[in-house]
Amino acid sequence: MSVKKIGILTSGGDGPGMNAAIRSVVRCAISSGIEVAGIMRGYQGLIDDDIIPLGHRSVSNIINRGGTILKTARSKDFKTSEGVKKAVTTLKEHKIDALIVIGGDGSYRGAQDLYENHKVPVIGLPGTIDNDLCGTDQTIGCHTAVNTALEAIDRIRDTAHSMERIFVIEVMGNHSGYIALQVALGAGAEDVIIPERKFDYDLMCKNIIAGNKKGKISWMIVTAEGAAKAPDVARTIQERTGLETRFVVLGHVQRGGVPVEGDRILATRVGAVAIDLLMQGLSGKAVGVLSEKINVVDLPVACKRETDRIDEYLALMKLLR
Ligand code: F6P
Repeated sequence: MSVKKIGILTSGGDGPGMNAAIRSVVRCAISSGIEVAGIMRGYQGLIDDDIIPLGHRSVSNIINRGGTILKTARSKDFKTSEGVKKAVTTLKEHKIDALIVIGGDGSYRGAQDLYENHKVPVIGLPGTIDNDLCGTDQTIGCHTAVNTALEAIDRIRDTAHSMERIFVIEVMGNHSGYIALQVALGAGAEDVIIPERKFDYDLMCKNIIAGNKKGKISWMIVTAEGAAKAPDVARTIQERTGLETRFVVLGHVQRGGVPVEGDRILATRVGAVAIDLLMQGLSGKAVGVLSEKINVVDLPVACKRETDRIDEYLALMKLLR
């Protein structure tokens, strides 16, 4: 398969570093004589035929910007067979030989559908703050999201300690406890509630009461949005312990901002590999980095993983409490 023109899109929740990935793909493609088409709003842009040419200059001054210059969406139309058909027709009309999809597991599943059922050569790049893909230690955006949440929690700690309160902080992660675990350990939180493990509310409240009797005055409890909502957790704690409890939902703050070094470098590396793979005639693959080395897996393999550090982190937090 000779690749003369590729399409690139970002899909699902945006993450800081997606622009660095777009830049890397565009510049590496151009260096290899390949034309690049930018598809707007993820798969929706293929259905709506919303496509722009991307040149060397189109990606100047974006390596340091959060969000995605191509915009992103969770396309409902692409979940229908008519939508997918329309997307394939648009690819043909624009003479796009291969597609690079930057996104998370939902976006990868869409890419796999195009590859398997419509013979579209596709490469996936891991773009999600959730860090819940297999075959890569990190995903583009997760480093920045964790740092943003940590910075916020450090500020909350000041007021929690001064006013002798319990704080429940809700972070992102609908099916994944990655962000919650990282920030809980990094912020020195007493407990963390994640979707992957059943949580013992009785034990937490017992620990809080026991600690309070020994003179402990403030607590930080982190919850992943998909495991428990912060207002509910805060209400339960206050009712059962009688101690003043507040909550903060960090929400989409975690998705924005200047990408940190880890996200920029990861994005730049995997972007270059995507072009290499296509030039070798390979597709249906997802690119990641495992133990510092580039790692390539089939798209379906990349679609799910459970954070492997859960038990280690939970045990550590218990020791540090
Ligand atoms: O997939 C990334 C993510 O940020 C999740 O952590 C979160 O649950 C979801 O997106 C939120 O999506 P939306 O911005 O569509 O509400």
